[in-house]
Amino acid sequence: MAEQNVSAPVPQPAETATQPEVAAASAAQVGETPTHEDIEADDHDVLEGDSAFGDDESERDSRTSLTSGITKYREENGRRYHAYRDGKYLIPNDEVEQDRLDLHHHVFNLALGGKLINAPIGQTSRVLDAGTGTGIWAIDFADQYPEAHIIGCDLSPIQPGWVPSNLEFEVDDIEDTWRHKPFTFIHMRSLAGSIRDWQQLLASIFNNLEPGGWLECVEFEVLLRIQNEDSIEFPPYIKKWQEGLHEAGEKFGRSFEVAVHLKDWLQAAGFVGVTEDIIKVPNSPWPRDRRRKEMGLYQQQNMFDASSSYGQAHFTRILGWTSQEFDIMSAQVRKELRDLRYHSYSNLYVVYGQKPGGGKEEVEVEIEKGPAAETEPGEGKGKAAAV
Ligand SMILES: C[S@@+](CC[C@H](N)C(=O)[O-])C[C@H]1O[C@@H](n2cnc3c(N)ncnc32)[C@H](O)[C@@H]1O
Repeated sequence: MAEQNVSAPVPQPAETATQPEVAAASAAQVGETPTHEDIEADDHDVLEGDSAFGDDESERDSRTSLTSGITKYREENGRRYHAYRDGKYLIPNDEVEQDRLDLHHHVFNLALGGKLINAPIGQTSRVLDAGTGTGIWAIDFADQYPEAHIIGCDLSPIQPGWVPSNLEFEVDDIEDTWRHKPFTFIHMRSLAGSIRDWQQLLASIFNNLEPGGWLECVEFEVLLRIQNEDSIEFPPYIKKWQEGLHEAGEKFGRSFEVAVHLKDWLQAAGFVGVTEDIIKVPNSPWPRDRRRKEMGLYQQQNMFDASSSYGQAHFTRILGWTSQEFDIMSAQVRKELRDLRYHSYSNLYVVYGQKPGGGKEEVEVEIEKGPAAETEPGEGKGKAAAV
């Protein structure tokens, strides 16, 4: 597909527009059209430029979806879900979830010691943030790399309208065929439970990177861990919630078990210099160390919100629970998360690799690490650390 969507001017939203309207205007630039009225011409050729993913069939499908309303969100059990490709992503896109994503961005910042990425990308020019959410990472990246052009792509137009001029957002499905110009860096974060076929997605990414280009994937492992499990029983509701999520993800065909496989998957896809950094993130402010306590405090708030957004649709649509049953369980999960006797943490995986070619490959380095290992927040390379 031609490149016009990259440079298409973004119309400025009306002052009175609501956030979704603003986001819709900037991300997709389409609206509802009464059937018998003349259709106003779009000077910016929006549909032509809107989808850079998609084969012929899915492109038709994309257009149908776009014209029938990417903001006709599904409302269900008090939460709101994406409209474009309705049903393929089971986490809400409402304001509560958007706030959670922005707060979680701060946790990632703390965990990576203030860095936006771990990969040594050097200068970069064309960047994709695949599954950008509220676009908060992409906005920060665009500020830090003013010479680069960044595209943030998502099923939901929930990104702000006023962003750095080197950044734009698209509503699109990264599981479609890719027809962008090659990128020099692709970033993906928190897509566990979203993707049906990771190997296929990684193949698309590999093919759509310039030689020497980089991919970085950032994922939490699904299951929470308890560091003092020898002296306290694993919190029963957290266990129930996590096991249910895992089961529903498998049944739905979009597994949550992603983080631990990324290194192997990237290598199998052809990436070289694949590096896996694992960072222990406390799920509540139980650690002594101030920096980890602060991280635990933010992560605890994230987990309070995640205990509802991660599961409401999985448990009701797939496991057949009532929403009341789910709400009761998630209230118990929050109670357990508040209990600082549980030294709960999750492993955050930051995995990156380079497409060979371009004469700039990093030398392949084998990094040996234990299973729950133990990188200091913000440091790479497997340094052992107790929380
Ligand atoms: C948990 S959020 C993470 C957002 C962002 N990466 C971050 O870290 O803040 C996952 C996002 O991926 C998007 N997503 C899921 N499947 C997708 C797909 N097939 N194509 C594009 N976006 C997708 C969702 O709409 C959601 O906004």
